[in-house]
Amino acid sequence: MEFTLIAMENVAFGYRLGTDCTEDILARLASHDASSYLVVADTTVAGLYGHDLTARIDKQVAPAHLLIHKVGEPHKSLSTVEALAHQALEQGIDRRAVVLALGGGVTGNIAGLLAALLFRGVRLVHVPTTVLAMLDSVLSLKQAVNATTGKNMIGTFHAPVEVLADTAMLRTLPAREVRSGMGEVIKNALAIRPSMLDRLGGSLRADAAYDDETLQWIIFESLAAKALVTAADMHERRSGLVLEYGHTTGHAIEHASRGAVAHGAGVAVGMIVAAEVSRRLGHAQTDLVSLHRELVAAAGVHPAVPADADITLVKERIAYDNKRGYLDTRPRHTPMVLLKAPGQVLHTGVLPLVPVPLALLEEVVDETTAPGAGPAAETTAA
Ligand SMILES: NC(=O)c1ccc[n+]([C@@H]2O[C@H](COP(=O)([O-])OP(=O)(O)OC[C@H]3O[C@@H](n4cnc5c(N)ncnc54)[C@H](O)[C@@H]3O)[C@@H](O)[C@H]2O)c1
Repeated sequence: MEFTLIAMENVAFGYRLGTDCTEDILARLASHDASSYLVVADTTVAGLYGHDLTARIDKQVAPAHLLIHKVGEPHKSLSTVEALAHQALEQGIDRRAVVLALGGGVTGNIAGLLAALLFRGVRLVHVPTTVLAMLDSVLSLKQAVNATTGKNMIGTFHAPVEVLADTAMLRTLPAREVRSGMGEVIKNALAIRPSMLDRLGGSLRADAAYDDETLQWIIFESLAAKALVTAADMHERRSGLVLEYGHTTGHAIEHASRGAVAHGAGVAVGMIVAAEVSRRLGHAQTDLVSLHRELVAAAGVHPAVPADADITLVKERIAYDNKRGYLDTRPRHTPMVLLKAPGQVLHTGVLPLVPVPLALLEEVVDETTAPGAGPAAETTAA
């Protein structure tokens, strides 16, 4: 099958989507006239696709080297990027090399930062292999790795020249990772594209077994949502901040669990927390909280802070959220993306952020931890 080029206004790079497209990937890579390819993959993806793809690029396109990093969020660090940079330079590459990020969002960020740093910037091509990467992270220009104090604290902006997404690669993706991607899909529907909600509600599967047609629809709709809010804000510092919906608590859960909780699953629970915070501040109705909980549960994600995440650490991490500094908040307040209703985002000035007392946020996190204990949980049981 051939790729379809997805038209996205104001997005400077091409996004091609298809199923079973390896030959097309090679043809697209050949069009970049690179001196060499640096294929970055984690150990799992290297075993599944990296060795084969690198060998085929090397044979059919240009010299190719496979750079492998360890799997998972704890390895999304500056030391991983540094080690890969040295390995790349030892291959004698030049500035016409292209970095090919083959993998999920972790690899995308590591490879993205590597591409930004090598010779002060070489070209980057994304071949995403997770749902989350296909519909979300590859569209972002943000390339960052984690610091000991929190996620995505060290990085820069670097745009890919192209994204080549083949849904056949999702066939090997574990259900946990598919569900994680669906967390971001639900975010896009609730915060940006409520027109998706009806079909999405009927399409979500707790067993995470989606057919190609549904996956392509979900990816297409999510790309449209993301393009809408980043069209005039590619650096995600104004309207694009809405993409951070659910991420204040989500990032904290992900970080506090040291990777045991997948990114999108953390975001899914983070959105439930945000909806309940919005309700308690008098902005949203109870039915918004129920809708959040229903969608999250339908995607097979338990709608509460999982036991894998140390709750004390979650509350500590919330205070280090990377949206600090966008608003001139009072002490012990943090800026959050909050909704009034699906698609209706609350603003402070031009920013889609609201200052929230940390005490309130911590209280809601506490209650969302124990299903059945708090108002948000009660709604689900109903
Ligand atoms: N740049 C951004 O703006 C942005 C946006 C969203 C998310 N992110 C980042 O993305 C990361 C999460 O991405 P992710 O969920 O893709 O995680 P990931 O890259 O760790 O991949 C998840 C797991 O799936 C495995 N895997 C990947 N593809 C596979 C396949 N096809 N078959 C079998 N296994 C496969 C990986 O080895 C890994 O174990 C986070 O670090 C997050 O911060 C960045």
